Amino acid sequence: MKVLITGIKGFIGSHIAKRILEEKNIEIIGLDNEYTATDKILDGISIIQGDVTKYEDIEKCGKCDVVIHCAGILGTNEIAEMGIINMANDVNINGTVNVLEYCKKYGSKHIFATKPNPKDWMNPYTITKQAAENYCQMYWNEYKVTTIALSLLWVYGKEQRQEPVNKFIPTFMKYGIENKPIPIWNTGEQIIDCCYIEDIAEVFYRAVKSDYQGYIKLDVGTGFPLTVNEVANMVIKLLNSNSELDYLGKRLGEPIETAIVADTSHTKRLFDYVPSTTLEEGLLHCRDWFIEQFSKE
Ligand SMILES: NC(=O)c1ccc[n+]([C@@H]2O[C@H](COP(=O)([O-])OP(=O)(O)OC[C@H]3O[C@@H](n4cnc5c(N)ncnc54)[C@H](O)[C@@H]3O)[C@@H](O)[C@H]2O)c1
Repeated sequence: MKVLITGIKGFIGSHIAKRILEEKNIEIIGLDNEYTATDKILDGISIIQGDVTKYEDIEKCGKCDVVIHCAGILGTNEIAEMGIINMANDVNINGTVNVLEYCKKYGSKHIFATKPNPKDWMNPYTITKQAAENYCQMYWNEYKVTTIALSLLWVYGKEQRQEPVNKFIPTFMKYGIENKPIPIWNTGEQIIDCCYIEDIAEVFYRAVKSDYQGYIKLDVGTGFPLTVNEVANMVIKLLNSNSELDYLGKRLGEPIETAIVADTSHTKRLFDYVPSTTLEEGLLHCRDWFIEQFSKE
């Protein structure tokens, strides 16, 4: 079996590649334009420098049985604030349509890295991901292209960057390590579900092996609710930090009262798997990596 991973040099794509590499009978090829690439070494994988917005770049990867599509532009508030809405539309929507066209041509299965998209989250990231999912549904209805859309909740772990998008754990770690006030959007009482990267990679691996046909969107998370304040305080405690919480007010495109927790019956039913790393365990796995990372700066 041959698997193409777009965005393979990113946080999630690189961890998925590492997990799949453990299986000797799966060949991987990667595609990435290095926009937010990590410096993780992926030995034994050929990686094409290319852009998902250019269909011909995807074609350069040759025929693959499965495409794991992780290339994307992230940022609930950042996309609008950085003035890159057009770019996000192009990569997240048109890039996904190119992947779907490729899957249609080669009969490949599509596994799409997506997210929860509640209707009241009116920000470019959510809007583009929802539009891309709609195209996935359309390509199944009209052309029988299978998509397993994995709706990832709050993912964290080693090799996660803190910029250009201020992801929550890297940000809490950075400010906590530097003993600076930790920035919190809204009241911090938003309810979230934190999922460790290796559990996420396992779900992608099982999706590769699955014989599901059709269009489906599945929650990927632990099902365990935590408030943002609880998470930040856990990081402070783990680091023995003196940081306090600094409330920034409302975040662009996110309602004040967010509460999103995975329905774990989804991955249980399809893959017989439920992400089970607790936040305490996950933070312990990655604490030293973040300390080393932020001490270099
Ligand atoms: N990190 C999360 O918490 C989270 C949650 C839900 C969904 N997702 C989705 O998972 C996917 C991967 O996220 P991540 O956290 O690894 O992000 P990331 O920024 O670390 O990785 C994205 C990768 O895509 C590459 N890329 C960007 N534009 C590209 C283009 N036009 N052509 C080719 N490659 C391109 C980047 O260089 C990078 O290597 C994204 O689609 C994201 O929307 C992430």
